[in-house]
Amino acid sequence: MTVNKTTIAEVYKYVDQEVKIGAWLANKRSSGKIAFLQLRDGTGFIQGVVVKSEVPDEVFQTAKSATQESSLYVTGVVQKDERSPFGYELLVNGIEVIQQAVDYPITPKEHGTEFLMDNRHLWLRSRRQHAVMKIRNEIIRATYEFFNEQGFVKVDPPILTGSAPEGTSELFATKYFDEDAYLSQSGQLYMEAAAMALGKVFSFGPTFRAEKSKTRRHLIEFWMIEPEMAFYEFEDNLKVQEEYVSHIIQAVLKNCKLELHTLGRDTSKLEQIKAPFPRISYDDAIKFLHEKGFNDIEWGDDFGAPHETAIAEAYDKPVFITHYPTAIKPFYMQPAKDREEVVLCADMIAPEGYGEIIGGSQRIHDHGLLKQRLEEHGLSNDAYKWYLELRQYGSVPHSGFGLGLERTVAWISGVEHVRETIPFPRLLNRLYP
Ligand code: 4AD
Ligand code: MG
Repeated sequence: MTVNKTTIAEVYKYVDQEVKIGAWLANKRSSGKIAFLQLRDGTGFIQGVVVKSEVPDEVFQTAKSATQESSLYVTGVVQKDERSPFGYELLVNGIEVIQQAVDYPITPKEHGTEFLMDNRHLWLRSRRQHAVMKIRNEIIRATYEFFNEQGFVKVDPPILTGSAPEGTSELFATKYFDEDAYLSQSGQLYMEAAAMALGKVFSFGPTFRAEKSKTRRHLIEFWMIEPEMAFYEFEDNLKVQEEYVSHIIQAVLKNCKLELHTLGRDTSKLEQIKAPFPRISYDDAIKFLHEKGFNDIEWGDDFGAPHETAIAEAYDKPVFITHYPTAIKPFYMQPAKDREEVVLCADMIAPEGYGEIIGGSQRIHDHGLLKQRLEEHGLSNDAYKWYLELRQYGSVPHSGFGLGLERTVAWISGVEHVRETIPFPRLLNRLYP
């Protein structure tokens, strides 16, 4: 009889049939008569049951002596198992050890964060990290789905650039042969050029911020989704954002049930996240904070994490904070009509203390004003010549935003710190592994 070689994700197709699976031994419990093998193969986790009285003696001995993270070929019969969240188990009848692992460093006991981060290349194999990575993947999949359905074109901006959209203080400088260059901190300026060519565009790529911040929300290298739309004004921009975020939440709820269960995520808080989202102006947010007893903030200051959290707690959905002071936002934002001191921008603040997940705005489309702003910000050099030219040849109102992938994954997964939401986090003082 030929045995079906399959994966754990596909065992549901082979109930009561014999299959062969390549797997690693994640964990094990055994007694004199029975061994329970927690098997993983990347596609999922399944329990293998080895009953001494039903298998040749050497199979039971192999099961008993197999070590954590040894690689195996396991054969067995797939059985429905209503008690496990996965729904299936494997009645094992054969085990071939490919490589016996010795002293796997991450044991089932508790380990400290620094130890786990030093072993990130192995920690990724754990059930919890597996679940977070699957949710990250689903958010990426649902992102492409959403923007493709809405007629956006994916455009890839460069990583090596000469420009600094988000201010010059957090740039990673490098050499481009004889020229000075920076790693991209945002693809936005290039996406504006792309929107003038393709109408509605989005990017998805790595961005770099040499930020000396050591918080649960900050990475040095993070991934951003940056849509940009020609002829979209302030309110049109917010609509895209709330529909996009609703879409990814609903996709994760639908397609990552097991992963959310593994993480112990309270999904009732996610189920209610549907467009539209509430909006509060910066002015009203300042008043609200004063009412809540925050005397450390005045009009003109930027919000810190405690302020954002206090505002977010007033809502059960993400909230847009709109119309920030011009002085604390980047040079490219369009001022409000009849109110030069605030800009047509919005930050989307996630619930449950996860902070800002989106920053976006309408962009200045007047050539004279943009030129003036670049000068005020000390950015009037040749690197921005092409960006200004976009305002000379058929300039139109346009808007866009950037969603930080890792903060979004952290929120939806319910994990505390962004370091668990990217395979190999780049943090202050961490470039290894
Ligand atoms: O608010 P930011 O800086 O906005 C921009 O870069 C705009 N140019 C985007 C645009 O309009 N196209 O960053 C956008 C988002 C933030 O809301 C946050 O989610 C995330 O990127 N982000 C970070 N995530 C992790 N670590 C950091 N150091 C981050 N800095 C920003
Ligand atoms: Mg921001």
